Amino acid sequence: MSLAAVEVQTAIDQLRVLLGDRLSVSTGVRDHHSRDESWHHPHRPDAVAFPNSTEEVAEIVRICAAHRTPVVAYGTGTSLEGAVIPTHGGVVVDLANMNQVLRVNAEDLDATVQARVTRKQLNEFIREQGLFFPIDPGADASLGGMAATRASGTNAVRYGTMRENVLALTVVMADGRIIRTSRRARKSAAGYDLTRLFVGSEGTLGIITEVTLRLYGLPEAIAAAVCSFGSIKGAVDTVISTIQLGVPVARIELLDDVQMDAVNRFSNLSYPVKDTLFIEFHGTEAGVKEQAELVQSLAADNDGGEFRWATRQEERTALWTARHDVTYANKALRPGCEIWATDVCVPISKLTQCILETKADLKQSFLIAPLVGHVGDGNFHLGFLINRDDPAELAEAERLNERLILRALALDGTCTGEHGIGLGKQKFLVAEHGEAVTVMRQIKQALDPLNILNPGKIFSV
Ligand code: LAC
Ligand code: ZN
Repeated sequence: MSLAAVEVQTAIDQLRVLLGDRLSVSTGVRDHHSRDESWHHPHRPDAVAFPNSTEEVAEIVRICAAHRTPVVAYGTGTSLEGAVIPTHGGVVVDLANMNQVLRVNAEDLDATVQARVTRKQLNEFIREQGLFFPIDPGADASLGGMAATRASGTNAVRYGTMRENVLALTVVMADGRIIRTSRRARKSAAGYDLTRLFVGSEGTLGIITEVTLRLYGLPEAIAAAVCSFGSIKGAVDTVISTIQLGVPVARIELLDDVQMDAVNRFSNLSYPVKDTLFIEFHGTEAGVKEQAELVQSLAADNDGGEFRWATRQEERTALWTARHDVTYANKALRPGCEIWATDVCVPISKLTQCILETKADLKQSFLIAPLVGHVGDGNFHLGFLINRDDPAELAEAERLNERLILRALALDGTCTGEHGIGLGKQKFLVAEHGEAVTVMRQIKQALDPLNILNPGKIFSV
């Protein structure tokens, strides 16, 4: 055994004393924690710990720090750029047991949850009080993981991302200290904004164990519609006009013809196989009606067809479930394939150019890649269907991905609107941020000098 391996084994022995059978080294459990939903190759951790409290997480981190053993926090394993893959081995801290809603302050419109509460679980919990939490990445992800990756989803155009909706965090630092980044006040000018430092840090600066979130009152009226277009340009131009006019759409999602085909098959629907917008309006009855009429007229000006309405709750749920399931729908298009999901975001006025050039690239390629996007934010994804063991397919996905990202950066956009850097986007971080990455590294080194927290993610140190 190498010295490092002896250290990891010592850490595991001590963790077993602390956790008993809540420390697992079984192959099955390690396998389960070796991967996420991305195409990135799995890597098994040496052990998986299942703490019951923030204090136990702190104790685990202290033991791992003493033995220089990597620690990777794990929620639902639904990340899309390899963020939770323990590429350096060590201990995965699965927060499965930390799944309680701790407090709902209906009168302040906020809630505090343990990190492993999922977005759907929270919404079920608060629905009876007339409240909801809007951030909805495709998967039913954990709120701790969503904070750690600065997740967003279909509602971000109206309600913002995790950046706007996390009020405070409880975080275990790399040396086992426990901090709370903020109180519940809606604004504060008290010192550095540590909440936002940890939001999007992908488990590299601390382990988030509790999250305080903003909540919203359920809108009086909700209406969703599907509209097919004669061209993708018409669809995107409709979105741009909608945003530029300040119509407060709650959701405005683009699915290209390839994506619509996948969704129809997977979710047993029969929408036209055309470039399509899924739109949702929230507000008063009158407000929804006014917004809908405005967007309908914009669509009509841009070669859009009739709106097909989904107003009843069941219809809307079916519509958005089909939308949220795109990754699984894409996988089903080619059994056994992996999805290389990529993700860029550009200023809204550049979106048509970015999408048209990207579609032209895809037309020339042998790979299939459905396009779906949170276009109201200027954000869209391609999901390359690949056999990751085929070098030609991998090289082609890499080539198209790189062209896409350089295009987005040239338009003053970002290499990732929501999936994060993880393993897959590291190469582009410097291209996007330049010297600022050096400052990020300095922060990492100051907060995690031994580099034990999710090592190898975002950048190497
Ligand atoms: C979605 C994931 C791919 O938008 O981000 O469904
Ligand atoms: Zn998305």
